[in-house]
Amino acid sequence: MRLKPIKIAAQYLQAGEVVAIPTETVYGLGANAYDPEAVQKIYAIKNRPHTSPLIVHTHDLAAVSDFVEEMPRIAVRLARCFWPGGLTLLLKKKSIIPPIVTAGLPTVGVRIPAHPLTQQVLQLLNFPIAAPSANPFGYISPTTAQHVAKQLGRKVAYILDGGPSSLGVESTIIGFQGEKAVLYRQGSVPEEDIQRVIGSIGYYKSQEKPTIALTSGTLLSHYAPRTPLIVGSIDDLLNQYQGHQIAMLGFDQYVEGIPRKLQFLLSPKKSLVQAAQRLFIGLHYLDDLGVDKIISSYLPSQGVGKAINDRLRRASYSLKPIQ
Ligand code: TXA
Ligand code: MG
Repeated sequence: MRLKPIKIAAQYLQAGEVVAIPTETVYGLGANAYDPEAVQKIYAIKNRPHTSPLIVHTHDLAAVSDFVEEMPRIAVRLARCFWPGGLTLLLKKKSIIPPIVTAGLPTVGVRIPAHPLTQQVLQLLNFPIAAPSANPFGYISPTTAQHVAKQLGRKVAYILDGGPSSLGVESTIIGFQGEKAVLYRQGSVPEEDIQRVIGSIGYYKSQEKPTIALTSGTLLSHYAPRTPLIVGSIDDLLNQYQGHQIAMLGFDQYVEGIPRKLQFLLSPKKSLVQAAQRLFIGLHYLDDLGVDKIISSYLPSQGVGKAINDRLRRASYSLKPIQ
């Protein structure tokens, strides 16, 4: 008898293997969060430095207390509003979470994803799943099973195909200083929605600067295609790169001067939610064309537009001077 895909995924995870799992934000590269050897395989497959902690996924709020100390009150309010969904909360971990998961930090990133297949897999298991996005470190995130197969297909035990991710950008990350919330990463839950629930929030000041990456000998960049991505005014960029093979990631309108098949529109109806859903699909498509450069411009900085602009800015880091 053929096993159902969710059973196959659960069995590989129980055996300490790494499985790509669908979530509504992006696909994750999952392993048993309680098993350091299984988690080590994730870092190896992604070529990810051990200084970068992973997010731990479980199926409901009651299960969170298995591996997290008491949550701040505002964390519980956020959890009740936005879980299951595209929100990650940084919470004080219990010792059952091994240090390799959190890069030695006392907090662990926790998320309850809504995707029905991954929900069912989590319910079959008696441990949570540690999972970063299922891309090689620094490269564009995957929002379809095909993206994962293209990037990491031969390295994972199994890819659970759950169709295209419905939100399309990674989760919003919120940490806490006492009862004060701090935004660590813009993501699929807009900052404005968080503020509506808990009022004003702080902003985490990252020490991270673009620098030489030790891992691959290339410039450190995040969410980046292999083809250089330049973000600015489309008219100016078209002028500047005359004579180059250019592709465009546009918002709602095609431009003259670039063949249509080298243009990918994020949302002809000008919806930021649709643009987020299609962002990484567009970047993967354009990156595979083999052109010299991809040009794009920032979207309106509101709602999920802030997360989209954050990803575009990071994906274009590689062309900025090193500071
Ligand atoms: O939507 C998502 O968040 C996806 C899906 C698979 O859940 N996961 C994801 O994981 O984007 P990853 O590893 O690509 O990004 C997680 C980010 C990293 O930037 C990491 O530094 C941060 O979360 N992070 C995780 N735990 C943390 C902690 N305890 N303190 C501060 N940052 C943390
Ligand atoms: Mg990632």
